[in-house]
Amino acid sequence: MTNQTKLNRRFFMKTVGAGAVIGGTMGSVSLSAAAMGQMGGMSDTVNFDAGYDRVGTNSIKFDYIKMINPGKTLDVGMGIADMDFRALPAVTEALKKRLEIENWGYELPPMDYQDNIVAWNKRRYGVDIPKANILNSLGVLDGVLSILLAFGKKGDHVLLTTPTYSSFFHTIHDARMHSAESEMKQVNGRYQVDYDDFEKQIAGGIKLFILCNPQNPTGNCWTADELRKMGDICNKHGCLVIADEIHCDFVMDGHKYTPYASLGQAYAQNSFTLKSASKSFNLAGHRTAYFYSDNRSYIDRVLDNGHQRLLLNIMGMIASNVALQHGDDYIDEQNAYLTENTRYVAKFCDDRIPLIKYHPQEGTYLAWLDCTGLYDKLDAHKKAKELTDYNTKNNVTEMDFFNGEVIKNYTAGRYVKEWVMDNARVDINAGQDYGKGGDGFMRMNLATNRAMITKALTNIEAAINAL
Ligand SMILES: Cc1ncc(COP(=O)(O)O)c(C=O)c1O
Repeated sequence: MTNQTKLNRRFFMKTVGAGAVIGGTMGSVSLSAAAMGQMGGMSDTVNFDAGYDRVGTNSIKFDYIKMINPGKTLDVGMGIADMDFRALPAVTEALKKRLEIENWGYELPPMDYQDNIVAWNKRRYGVDIPKANILNSLGVLDGVLSILLAFGKKGDHVLLTTPTYSSFFHTIHDARMHSAESEMKQVNGRYQVDYDDFEKQIAGGIKLFILCNPQNPTGNCWTADELRKMGDICNKHGCLVIADEIHCDFVMDGHKYTPYASLGQAYAQNSFTLKSASKSFNLAGHRTAYFYSDNRSYIDRVLDNGHQRLLLNIMGMIASNVALQHGDDYIDEQNAYLTENTRYVAKFCDDRIPLIKYHPQEGTYLAWLDCTGLYDKLDAHKKAKELTDYNTKNNVTEMDFFNGEVIKNYTAGRYVKEWVMDNARVDINAGQDYGKGGDGFMRMNLATNRAMITKALTNIEAAINAL
């Protein structure tokens, strides 16, 4: 039996079993996965090594980056955190099926939507999510914003352990609050929280902490001990833990994701957890996420403060629902493929690009590259200052993230990012966008196939060799 046949069979067996409980609100069009399996002879995974060409699909990673870099060539987009793989076939089939209903009025989530969220978390991580306390949100950040607004007020500080996901800064800004950064330290290639500084800042009055687990961009899968240490400090000083666990399904071989709320009631009762199938299965364009807390009064507080998301995008709810039912093999094989990507990149850098040091991440598909050598070789700090001074003097402006006109300001990371784009035709992210501790680093998205990764690394190698 070929691997593909085995997979088809596995899908069929699983879905026949699951068919009875796959209800839904689809009226006369049944979305029974059993039927889909019979009809389409589908598999529950894909060939990750084939990748997926997204150029010309309005993708941010390729098309938007080309648009904002007129006249430049982009060979490989490795920026925004989404993936260049074919979607789970069961998702595509379910969405096609829904298209047959030519009406797009208000619609409930599939009846088993929350059951499937609960079942996924139980099956994969052994955690019992309180079903009645699950709230929908358009995105994980949308949920973070609702929580910040419900638990804080204008001018409050929100603690981040940096380097961390750049958009947290924007969301905190949207809440009219300020980011406070506790810079982490790298010890033997792995990031560690500076607990003294962490406690000092919280004891100083910070009441909101955004935990990123696994951590974007450093790739840490926080251990139970590490989480407990952070949690104990937060609980001692009455600081709420907002656990963004959107990357939980990306765990590299040999590592483990520990859900924050699984540490025990003391931790679960003083936290929210936010997740989505959209990151795990690359459904981010569907805008569908969820969050929960074991503490009912916390959920009520978010609702009382105006978070109203009973309904989400119809396609997003269907896609997420099907993915959580049928995505186990897809996620396992994706993780195996991504793990190989990390090993491949590590070897390539070791062998051929000594100016870039890389310790493969434990979770996420994001490589956090120590490019200190490249920054130095390019004299990036000096060049960034010169460019900023020139732009200030000559009033060279650009639109910032919030659509305001600002002086085009350079960090060293931004200078390196533009250098890589101009000379290697690859888009990667500037380390300084991730807060304190980002200087000297660049973030590279490895959720693509090996051919693309080879192209990107070969281009970067050639550009550096030409210096
Ligand atoms: C840690 C983290 N949180 C949240 C998001 C954004 O999620 P959403 O699009 O669901 O708001 C991302 C996307 O890259 C992320 O890495």
